[in-house]
Amino acid sequence: MVLINGNYLKLKAGYLFPEIARRVKAFSDANPEAPIIRLGIGDVTEPLPQACRDAMKTAVDEMGSREGFHGYGPEQGYLWLREAIASHDFQARGCQISAEEIFVSDGSKCDSANILDILGEGNRIAVTDPVYPVYVDSNVMAGRTGDADGAGQYGGLTYLPINAENGFTAQLPSEPVDLIYLCFPNNPTGAVASREQLKGWVDYALAHDALILFDAAYEAFIQDPSLPHSIYEIEGARGCAIEFRSFSKNAGFTGTRCALTVVPRGLMGKDANGEAVELWGLWNRRQCTKFNGVSYIVQRGAEAVYCTEGQAQVKALVAFYMENAAIIRSELSAAGLQVFGGEQAPYVWVKTPAGLDSWGFFDQLLQRAHVVGTPGSGFGAAGEGYFRLSAFNSRANVIEAMGRIQAAIAG
Ligand code: MLT
Repeated sequence: MVLINGNYLKLKAGYLFPEIARRVKAFSDANPEAPIIRLGIGDVTEPLPQACRDAMKTAVDEMGSREGFHGYGPEQGYLWLREAIASHDFQARGCQISAEEIFVSDGSKCDSANILDILGEGNRIAVTDPVYPVYVDSNVMAGRTGDADGAGQYGGLTYLPINAENGFTAQLPSEPVDLIYLCFPNNPTGAVASREQLKGWVDYALAHDALILFDAAYEAFIQDPSLPHSIYEIEGARGCAIEFRSFSKNAGFTGTRCALTVVPRGLMGKDANGEAVELWGLWNRRQCTKFNGVSYIVQRGAEAVYCTEGQAQVKALVAFYMENAAIIRSELSAAGLQVFGGEQAPYVWVKTPAGLDSWGFFDQLLQRAHVVGTPGSGFGAAGEGYFRLSAFNSRANVIEAMGRIQAAIAG
């Protein structure tokens, strides 16, 4: 028989969202009439922006002629999209990021896991707790951790707790680490990092020769103009950080698939002999070997995000979801719950009512309100006692869900 990757056996439960889906399916099989509202997984609900649809339709038609047909595209993405991204998302904010440093992909979830291909074993890794589970599970799968303990924390990882007591701001690691995962605006807590806080991380990384993997998938939801959208807004970050971005949440591409990873030229790691090696070349090599690029049609759709109409439509989408977040915050506060996040991010992080842990509150809401959220403990041991609600849904569903949650808590 073939030998399996035994690291998979170290993984605790199923991946969080399939596990939730499994429980919801069991409930709805038993209660087929229950009108379930899903505020669990952060999947968007509103239609694709018109500008993106128009661009994709045109691209489909182009593909219908011999002259306009596109086969394999560049593994790194078409230059016109990489240039639009570099100019609008980075250079316009004062970040010196060039098109060459942008790698278009089919998702920042995949990229944040795939990046481990170019990083060696033996790196000391820091993650926040709670954390987007992909960062941890992909390290477990790649054999970069020990076993999980009773609380579900893996040996070899440095967990940096973020909670109400520390304002959801992780302290810099007290033990030296080589690789640091940061996500701002944060999934799951909805917290953001100020320029000073990010500078603290960049200074730490530069001082300790560490690499920051910065997940900025939710940057479009930042409302406060003083907050940084990119790690590269911080001086020195080109020398210590890789950034992940996505079209999923701002432009509704969760089903369409388009994202990007920035690997600055001159960002170095070291080989087993201590010789410096540029990470850009390794990631480029990895992508050329294992990835054939995002479809021409989808990249044309993503490019349309940057035209005048596209920008206005994406802004409107973000504003719509942020109004949902404001409704969730105010209705849950009115119900006596303690809420965090949801002001610069599409996630509201809620303290569970007294006497209920994260999965207990999940079950209560599913059974009494037929509303699905995400148990905080699914994001890590320090997420216990919290619960995440996503603002990605229709207005009618959000209002209905809030009414039902209020009734469920009162009852
Ligand atoms: C979430 O709910 O945390 C997101 O959907 C995760 C993702 O974007 O992969």
